[in-house]
Amino acid sequence: MSDLNNAMKIYHTAQVLHDEATIAECLDKMAGKITLDYTGLDPLVLCVMNGGLYFTAELTKRLEFPMQVDYLHATRYGDDSVGKEVVWKAMPQAEVAGRHVLVLDDILDEGYTLAAIQNALQEQGAASVRMAVLTEKQHDRRCEGVNAKYVGLQLPDRFVFGCGMDYKGYFRNLRAIYGIEGI
Ligand code: IMP
Ligand code: MG
Repeated sequence: MSDLNNAMKIYHTAQVLHDEATIAECLDKMAGKITLDYTGLDPLVLCVMNGGLYFTAELTKRLEFPMQVDYLHATRYGDDSVGKEVVWKAMPQAEVAGRHVLVLDDILDEGYTLAAIQNALQEQGAASVRMAVLTEKQHDRRCEGVNAKYVGLQLPDRFVFGCGMDYKGYFRNLRAIYGIEGI
């Protein structure tokens, strides 16, 4: 079966876990907290590609203080649904040293990706590094030492897609978050 046919089959068996209105309300709340903490700090906001793209767009348009936005690309899953080592595809172009860095990603799953990112940014001399994630999966497999300061919505321990998260590269554009039983 082609990836597209496979993805459409998955889509038709998935359930909505969080709808668009719930996600918008959550984004408003997160933006409120981040505004209180970062106004005046001239932060460097880093989008973790590709999953963080949707969250970065939706969150940053709710933030009204000056910030610079850049991206990095570190991935653990590639296009598969089974975990792998963290692979760096792009470091941020912006100078990180001395900056208050806020890293934005779609999901905190086992946390190896965010832990690797946090370590790399600290080694580059960031003044502070904090993570914000749109979602967090509930399980006890979290890697040690990883901690997201801002967490949006809770998810069951299932494969999910939508709002930046993909199945074989598809569905990042969906406005709700969907879950699939069994994978
Ligand atoms: P971690 O290193 O286990 O925390 O993996 C985090 C990354 O894996 C996220 O940034 C996502 O890109 C991806 N990921 C983890 N779980 C899912 C999922 O259920 N659906 C889609 N992508 C996922
Ligand atoms: Mg990701």
